[in-house]
Amino acid sequence: GFSWTLPDHPKLPKGKTVALVVLDGWGEANADKYNCIHVAQTPVMDSLKNGAPERWRLVKAHGTAVGLPSEDDMGNSEVGHNALGAGRIFAQGAKLVDLALASGKIYDGEGFNYIKECFDQGTLHLIGLLSDGGVHSRLDQVQLLLKGASERGAKRIRVHILTDGRDVLDGSSVGFVETLENDLSQLREKGIDARIASGGGRMYVTMDRYENDWDVVKRGWDAQVLGEAPYKFQNAVEAVKTLRAETKASDQYLPPFVIVDESGKSVGPVADGDAVVTFNFRADRMVMLAKALEYADFDKFDRVRVPKIRETVKFGHVTFFWNGNRSGYFDETKEEYVEIPSDIGITFNVKPNMKALEIAEKARDAILSGKFDQVRVNLPNGDMVGHTGDIEATVVACKAADEAVKIILDAIEQVGGIYLVTADHGNAEDMVKRNKSGQPLLDKNGGIQILTSHTLQPVPVAIGGPGLHPGVKFRSDIQTPGLANVAATVMNFHGFEAPADYEPTLIEVVDN
Ligand code: 3PG
Ligand code: CO
Repeated sequence: GFSWTLPDHPKLPKGKTVALVVLDGWGEANADKYNCIHVAQTPVMDSLKNGAPERWRLVKAHGTAVGLPSEDDMGNSEVGHNALGAGRIFAQGAKLVDLALASGKIYDGEGFNYIKECFDQGTLHLIGLLSDGGVHSRLDQVQLLLKGASERGAKRIRVHILTDGRDVLDGSSVGFVETLENDLSQLREKGIDARIASGGGRMYVTMDRYENDWDVVKRGWDAQVLGEAPYKFQNAVEAVKTLRAETKASDQYLPPFVIVDESGKSVGPVADGDAVVTFNFRADRMVMLAKALEYADFDKFDRVRVPKIRETVKFGHVTFFWNGNRSGYFDETKEEYVEIPSDIGITFNVKPNMKALEIAEKARDAILSGKFDQVRVNLPNGDMVGHTGDIEATVVACKAADEAVKIILDAIEQVGGIYLVTADHGNAEDMVKRNKSGQPLLDKNGGIQILTSHTLQPVPVAIGGPGLHPGVKFRSDIQTPGLANVAATVMNFHGFEAPADYEPTLIEVVDN
């Protein structure tokens, strides 16, 4: 029968402290000047790579290996941490929404039934990230949703766009807005009153996460719900072009704007009886907006006016990635979650070290305390600074992450423990857009095209520490493992065999 108890590992002991270090946005790529990990001084990660070959290897961190629709989908923190934690490959948000749209099942559910109630008198509002990045959302899904909703009776639709430039090239927002405008004008020809109502850059408007900075959400609320913003335009393409040129803001940081009619009145505030759908399938950067829309006793900022909205739909869940998008503790007596608050109101190229030292020191203390079997850490530098597209700052960020790894590995050394160092996806190892043969692509002026996004590159897995049985080495019979193979490996380090449905462990134990 089924049992929650894992079988003992035949050769590996229990009771070792295991440090699990995830370098965010740290992939493996050819060594050139756009590879910030290569350019940076990273002696600790270098020594792991150049150490025993049976204790360092690469695993896949993108595409189908982490439950994404295709091999063209780059990895990201949500799917990477999900795979690391789950030990199996599950279809992730992007793919689930694709399936629900293709089968039409998305229109059968309870959520859509609520939304439909606004079709007679009210407006359907769609809010989300407008790009084909595939990390939080995808333009083609929005297009299908517009088509599906209008075919099912929506007569007045307002789209509130958030421009990207983080999962896609900076400047690409103009093209996405043009595509959307074109679709909306086709709907208008069919008699549906469909328009873009407001907009703003994702990092400045709405898409904050983990309650880091509520001002971001407030700026979005003012534009989307109240119809108020510092900039007013009659056309969204013109808005994005003008704001990019005049405020010098990148797509990510575009200031909020509203679309107004000839009389200067905003075309799409949210009114009582309207419905709001957030079309991001990834939840982390939509949850705060959802709270503002839904919570009766909300105190994070003055909402001024709270529309009675029929229902908010989120294509995701309010939770933590590693625990399979589940929030809260499994068992408070056995776990402790420590959060080191980030600096707010700056872009991370200004402080590329971020809080790496503080994170490492907390991890070190947890390891040395002897209270925990496993200490799990995420070091964000490579990713967060990589997303700014600032190459020099990203080099500094990689060095800071490497120094943090040293502090953690030293602590493992002291307690006779085991470490596993890996990454959730690539980012800092390639900062330039390339053609198919790997050459940097140039823009109109002969400059390189900076890659702010993640990559399709594999990530390292390095294992070791004094507590690791000397006969442990990576198996050679697993040809293309991915992040989902890490969980079974870690269970082995704790002295257990993984459940049978897990992706296989990366290691074997040879007798010496
Ligand atoms: C973000 O949300 O910052 C980016 O879209 C993806 O980055 P992450 O997957 O590393 O969080
Ligand atoms: Co990232």
